[in-house]
Amino acid sequence: MKKLIASLAGLGASLFFMPLVLAAPGDGLAGTKHDFSGIGNPQTGACTFCHTPHKAQSQALLWNHALTTNTFSWTDTVTTAGTAFPTFVGDSYKGPTVKCLSCHDGSVAIGDIGWWNGGDPGTLLNVTIPNGENAFSIGFGGDMTGNHPVAMPFPYQNAPSTYNGSTTGSGITLVDWKADPRDFNIVLYNDDGAGNISRGAVPGQTGIECGSCHDPHNGPKVTGPWFLYVNLGGATGADGYICEKCHNKSGS
Ligand code: HEC
Ligand code: HEC
Ligand code: HEC
Ligand code: HEC
Repeated sequence: MKKLIASLAGLGASLFFMPLVLAAPGDGLAGTKHDFSGIGNPQTGACTFCHTPHKAQSQALLWNHALTTNTFSWTDTVTTAGTAFPTFVGDSYKGPTVKCLSCHDGSVAIGDIGWWNGGDPGTLLNVTIPNGENAFSIGFGGDMTGNHPVAMPFPYQNAPSTYNGSTTGSGITLVDWKADPRDFNIVLYNDDGAGNISRGAVPGQTGIECGSCHDPHNGPKVTGPWFLYVNLGGATGADGYICEKCHNKSGS
């Protein structure tokens, strides 16, 4: 019964956001599930739910959406390589992952934004992403168990990195990694050591975030479904197959 209610709620949310025109991969924001334009009176624009030119919640990304206050962690403490899974807090971690989780962890209303049209609009869309069978729920209640590592180091140039307080473990097989997955459209980030995170790779300080695989804007580099920079099918990195863009397990 609980499952049924969750999936009905999910269906409601999906229908609510069902765009009039469906966007193809790489075609941009308009018509995607992230197109929240046309809500309220006067109506919001395409960027309002996430960014604002003034009075942003954080300078980073001029973020306009209320941040989750959940603490995110995995049940396991380390990966096979011995790399520690981090614990990070929604409204203090500076990586972009918490921006995604602020809508996707189901704790904050989708339309809980800070500043728009010269004032505080309050909550424009009082729906949240439900847990359970809903495909869009990631990190519900802060539980990241079962999700691919994020906010974690990447062994850029086949060397260990320290990122978000976690260092690539000594059990890593360095030849099992692409030296620089940006060659395959993956986005890498770096941590200056004081927790300030920016785009780009720096030897010894490189990591991955939700934005390594997904472009929330469905921008021109997106080739797959789900806002992915990559394809779901195929075997090799050259095919565009997502897992082989960073890992070196099935050939090139
Ligand atoms: C302002 C809130 C908000 C933010 C911020 C946000 N999302 Fe979403 N996202 C949504 C909603 C709402 C949906 C659609 C849910 C539904 O239809 O039930 C969605 C859908 C998606 C989908 C599915 C797309 C599809 O084609 O079906 C992906 C993938 C996704 N988001 C990833 C991300 C990632 C990665 C980030 C951060 C880089 C992010 N989102 C940030 C609200 C948000
Ligand atoms: C659903 C939320 C969402 C919407 C809507 C959205 N953005 Fe973003 N935007 C993000 C997130 C999350 C990031 C950080 C991505 C990353 O680096 O991982 C980002 C990053 C950016 C950046 C900096 C990095 C880059 O990609 O260049 C710019 C500039 C930007 N957005 C502009 C816009 C504009 C302009 C619009 C409206 C047309 C828009 N965004 C709509 C979520 C959103
Ligand atoms: C290593 C690459 C990678 C990273 C990092 C990543 N994703 Fe995904 N994501 C995928 C792939 C591949 C799919 C599609 C396959 C699937 O459905 O499992 C997907 C699907 C999704 C979906 C669609 C529904 C679903 O669960 O299948 C959402 C929403 C989403 N991701 C959000 C996120 C958020 C939020 C983060 C950061 C916490 C994130 N992703 C980090 C690769 C990634
Ligand atoms: C953006 C680069 C990137 C992509 C794309 C990527 N991974 Fe990973 N993956 C990583 C990093 C970084 C780690 C953590 C390495 C470590 O243990 O230090 C990791 C770890 C793993 C682990 C080991 C977890 C453990 O507990 O030991 C598995 C399994 C895995 N990834 C599978 C996948 C699969 C399947 C895909 C495709 C859906 C994928 N990865 C896509 C970067 C990536």
